[in-house]
Amino acid sequence: MSEAVWTASGKEETAALAKRLAAWAEPGTVLALDGDLGAGKTTFSQFFAAAIGVNSVVNSPTFTIIKEYEGATMPFYHMDVYRLSMEEADELGLDDYFYGDGVTIVEWASLIRELLPSERLELYIEHEGGDSRRIRLVGIGGKYASWCDALNEMGES
Ligand SMILES: Nc1ncnc2c1ncn2[C@@H]1O[C@H](COP(=O)(O)OP(=O)(O)O)[C@@H](O)[C@H]1O
Ligand SMILES: [Mg+2]
Repeated sequence: MSEAVWTASGKEETAALAKRLAAWAEPGTVLALDGDLGAGKTTFSQFFAAAIGVNSVVNSPTFTIIKEYEGATMPFYHMDVYRLSMEEADELGLDDYFYGDGVTIVEWASLIRELLPSERLELYIEHEGGDSRRIRLVGIGGKYASWCDALNEMGES
């Protein structure tokens, strides 16, 4: 496990993080997002989708729960589990997405923590006033821990 903090003073810097993570993503990658309403979970997801070459409009999946998009390199699965009970989430068979051919982003992921893959990148987005956001990343599992290490090294240079 490894941690990193990314400070975004505006949307461009949230986009820069999304772009960097998109470059590292591969089929089976899971990003678990948390943060209050309006923190920027959907906005981050939209930047991420654009970076993996999704051409269609990515909306908040609050009412549909799961949306699938075609990316240039792989499918993109976008979930919002805010309205789901653990039981309902369990019945959806989320593993088909997590371990499928694409990359998954889960908004409000901590609500279904027990159902998430044991290896994942957690992102905690905090509103810091105006367009500033503090994004804390926790990489659980070797691959994701090394992503955090790489972000930390970038910050130091
Ligand atoms: N640095 C930033 N990163 C992400 N979103 C930002 C940032 N600055 C301002 N915003 C705005 O904050 C709002 C975040 O909303 P949204 O992404 O829907 O949040 P959530 O999905 O977490 O509820 C959007 O209107 C977005 O344009
Ligand atoms: Mg949202």
